[in-house]
Amino acid sequence: MIEDQDARPPGHMKFVRVAGDDELGEGELHGVSVGEVPVLLVRLDGHVYALGRICTHEYADLAEGSVENGCVVCPLHGSKFDLRTGEALTLPAIEPEPSYKVLIENRVVYVAVQDAEH
Ligand code: FES
Repeated sequence: MIEDQDARPPGHMKFVRVAGDDELGEGELHGVSVGEVPVLLVRLDGHVYALGRICTHEYADLAEGSVENGCVVCPLHGSKFDLRTGEALTLPAIEPEPSYKVLIENRVVYVAVQDAEH
């Protein structure tokens, strides 16, 4: 059964397995790498979000931050990024985090990334 949260990914994207569905506890930050791409996974209110994992301000791993009011909070200077969109909501970060499509199928979590063959 497909518990797709969004539509299929746009062209030149492919879904890559990143975790088992039961590995993602509610409100927990989970850092993974999809090929060379560091990705942050968070389950919040039953929905799984995938954002870029490295802060857009300076180098900090958002998987070491915290979750607050639908945002991930950077562990270094406290910028907040909206989990739904990746938007930087508070300074000092200005640039948004990339936001990736998530697919959950047969209790496996997949994230859509750029297909290297294109
Ligand atoms: S490194 Fe994340 S806010 Fe500065």
